[in-house]
Amino acid sequence: MKRALLLVHGGAGDIPVERVQPKLDGVRNAVKEGYRVLIDPGKSVIDAVEVAVRIMEDDEAFNAGRGSVLNLDGEVEMDAIIMEGKKMKIGSVAAVKNVSHPISLARLVMENTQHVMLAGSGANKFAAEMGVPTVSPDWLVTDYARETLEMCRRSGDLGTYITELGASIGEVGTVGAVAIDSNGHLAMATSTGGTCGKMPGRVGDTPIPGSGGYCDDSAGAVSATGHGESIMRHCVAHGIIQKMKLGESAQIATQQVLDAMAEQTGESAGAITISKDGEIGIYFNSRRMAWAYQQGDDIHSGIDHGDDFIEKAKCP
Ligand code: GLY
Repeated sequence: MKRALLLVHGGAGDIPVERVQPKLDGVRNAVKEGYRVLIDPGKSVIDAVEVAVRIMEDDEAFNAGRGSVLNLDGEVEMDAIIMEGKKMKIGSVAAVKNVSHPISLARLVMENTQHVMLAGSGANKFAAEMGVPTVSPDWLVTDYARETLEMCRRSGDLGTYITELGASIGEVGTVGAVAIDSNGHLAMATSTGGTCGKMPGRVGDTPIPGSGGYCDDSAGAVSATGHGESIMRHCVAHGIIQKMKLGESAQIATQQVLDAMAEQTGESAGAITISKDGEIGIYFNSRRMAWAYQQGDDIHSGIDHGDDFIEKAKCP
């Protein structure tokens, strides 16, 4: 019997100090809600990662769901992936509009289609067929996201990967969760609005299996965050899984893959990992990354390098 564990992140980047507390509050809130689901005998490990990510999609402190960054046309286009490690089933959506919880749409793709990924108008058509409520494009757009796009335009940083990055330029964060249940079954979920000022139709690492996330009960589960084009080039999530299959610990595997990516591309990223044995890997070569995990009634969290804040939760 394994000890159930849920680990979440709220995005790697150059997070300005005034955004530190909202992100820490957000990841702690998500991990507590997700963990309650994880230890509920009537729920599954997939339910747990979905709930944790949905909570962060609802939280404007993060670049996912409402509060996502805007593309060049001033619109929200979102990417998400969910995967379970037993049958290695995957659902993902790319460049989807007008839904509040892309992660739940990704799960519907996994459970109700013969495909892995649906993109753009096809993803929205499927959402309508599945009865997913539509939200207006304006509902997803926050003042902060509008100001961020204007700052990107003024700075000339359009499409140059301002997502979780940039202290003065609207830092926000991709969100993700990985979990293991008491039977050793693993799942992962990642969701993002992508990069500020991206070209309409740009798809980042998040929905790509092996880049923004991967999960295999014989090795572990990973959710990645950061510079999407670099994460895709290095297949970061799959790279971490492969290293664990070769015997590396979750922490060392995560660190080695992210540092190799940063050295070759000059860009930064982060990832959270759980091994099949329930070991944790948390690493980022950006300035900050919000993270939190819960096991039993211990909740750990942090955002700066070296942080490990510990609090007690009441388990039902
Ligand atoms: N890592 C999120 C993105 O680049 O879209």
